[in-house]
Amino acid sequence: MTVRSVVLGCGSYLPQRILTNAELATRVDTSDEWIVQRTGIRQRHIAAEGECTSHLAINAARAALADAAVDAQSIDLIVLATSTPDNTFPATAVAVQNGLEIHHGAAFDLQAVCSGFIFALATADNFLRTGAYKRALVIGAETFSRILDWNDRGTCVLFGDGAGAIVLEAQTQPGKSSDRGVLTTHLRSDGRHKSKLYVDGGPSSTQTVGHLRMEGREVFKHAVGMITDVIVDAFNATGLTADDLDWFVPHQANKRIIDASAHKLHIVPQKVVLTVDQHGNTSAASIPLALSVAVKDGRIKKGDLVLLEAMGGGFTWGSALLRW
Ligand code: ACO
Repeated sequence: MTVRSVVLGCGSYLPQRILTNAELATRVDTSDEWIVQRTGIRQRHIAAEGECTSHLAINAARAALADAAVDAQSIDLIVLATSTPDNTFPATAVAVQNGLEIHHGAAFDLQAVCSGFIFALATADNFLRTGAYKRALVIGAETFSRILDWNDRGTCVLFGDGAGAIVLEAQTQPGKSSDRGVLTTHLRSDGRHKSKLYVDGGPSSTQTVGHLRMEGREVFKHAVGMITDVIVDAFNATGLTADDLDWFVPHQANKRIIDASAHKLHIVPQKVVLTVDQHGNTSAASIPLALSVAVKDGRIKKGDLVLLEAMGGGFTWGSALLRW
């Protein structure tokens, strides 16, 4: 027997305002055709003035708690992945904890850019398996619209705002690959690439928030290899293969990266959950947003084997294999 972190429910929240490619083309020298062809993105959601990352996160957390049919008071751990916190400190997770009227347990932020949700999931999973906590909210929430240079067509067309959350519970399982819950997680970082995707500001360097900067081609060049490496790690650790998967829910950065990774791993297109067309790249929020879409429309069901992966600034990258 072993303790596993089992998903009880998931939920998401998107700001109301939708920004289409056509509207973007009125602001910078770009076109719907260019954006769709290079990225697969058709639209993204943008937070309203005064709507912060914590507001999106609280809404997503409430939806996840409702889906799990558990009371907020039963949550004793909140791990929130974001690169766009409300403030430098305190952690946005604390604002979420307070918003949910939870005044016990622990709440903290975790920063691994687009890989944030995988890193947060792995962190919560480790705390639950050691018995330190019983029930966790794992949240990815971002307002990347606030750190974009809206005059840089190479980056402003790629990102959007949103939040997604899952509720995890420590449960005793038989200790087999047929168990429900998180079966394995694999995290990696390599700081040699830190200048390829970064924000040119921060409290200690410039005392400003800064804007996102990216060498798009360099990111693209490394993405597929790094993603497939950590997925192979997940398969090797569990003895499971691409054929065993029910669903592949990748970080939604770019349809070309997703297609190339799935192809390299022999994952058929029918098993790939794609939301990048509707949400753009919402960084740490993209995986729980995609999970939420696929659970709501009936694709992901209890007992399904789901593979998650992400890669982002740092570089950081990681994978998680879980049975829903
Ligand atoms: N509209 C029209 N033209 C554009 C735009 C735009 N929005 N952006 C760039 N261009 C132009 C460039 O100026 C360049 O013009 P030039 O040839 O006259 O100099 C031309 O298009 C080609 O530019 P590249 O940057 O080489 O275009 P590329 O085919 O590499 O596509 C892209 C750019 C989409 C950013 C691609 O490199 C990519 O997807 N990279 C991965 C980055 C990514 O997904 N990052 C997300 C964060 S990391 C993560 O989440 C994994």
